[in-house]
Amino acid sequence: MEGRASIRYLYACAKDCPRIQTTNMGESFDSAWPNFWNERYASGETPWTLHAVPAAVRSFVKRRQRRGTTVLIPGCGTDLEVLQFFQTAGFEVTAIDFSSVAVAQTRKALRNFDGQIIRGDFFKFDFQNRFDLIYERTFLCALHPRRWPKYAKRVAQLLRPRGKLVGIFFYGKEPEPPPYPLSETGAAEIFGRCFRLIRDVKVSDSVAMFAGMERWQEWQLATPKAKGCGPRRRTTSPRR
Ligand SMILES: C[S@@+](CC[C@H](N)C(=O)[O-])C[C@H]1O[C@@H](n2cnc3c(N)ncnc32)[C@H](O)[C@@H]1O
Repeated sequence: MEGRASIRYLYACAKDCPRIQTTNMGESFDSAWPNFWNERYASGETPWTLHAVPAAVRSFVKRRQRRGTTVLIPGCGTDLEVLQFFQTAGFEVTAIDFSSVAVAQTRKALRNFDGQIIRGDFFKFDFQNRFDLIYERTFLCALHPRRWPKYAKRVAQLLRPRGKLVGIFFYGKEPEPPPYPLSETGAAEIFGRCFRLIRDVKVSDSVAMFAGMERWQEWQLATPKAKGCGPRRRTTSPRR
């Protein structure tokens, strides 16, 4: 419970957090802004970081063909172990985060990393290609629920046909979000139109703040042709 109390403090506080240097009050309070995260990474106050590869990720990787499989990791933060693990297992890894501090720390720690670590906004960056997999952990729950439909649409657009959104999802009740938990009906609402849930397993190796509230899920892109579920249509003609 100590971990859960401390996360509320970390997510909510700005000027009263002694180790967090605040530059802009609005941005420091709001997890929609890079500064909110920059301040936390710079101060080392990142209780969501697991510092390990979740058992569910190991089990998933064992079950599938890896060589050449492309995986996108949005809101990668400093999840070094997972980036490295996917790469070592033969995946082509692209990771993105809009926190310059997290990206700098990750690039510095993973010097020999062959994949891409992009500093950018997941919702705006032009990836130029689509992915076989998108890996989720503690990114969705960092976004306000009003952005969840946009997240689902973006994920659907960035996946190849029959691609999958896989990862660890935060479920339950959180009196003082963020992090924002999912409910089963909420998940069905945001993912139901474009995805089909094909695996759902409880996670037992969570960090303290998420203990007992995480699930490994695999959402298969079900209807890439349905409106809003496939790749985005280009509005201009391609250059010759
Ligand atoms: C709770 S942290 C999770 C980090 C990582 N997934 C992990 O498991 O350790 C959420 C991350 O999402 C990033 N983030 C939030 N909104 C973003 C956006 N629109 N585009 C890219 N990154 C974003 C933050 O900078 C932060 O690093």
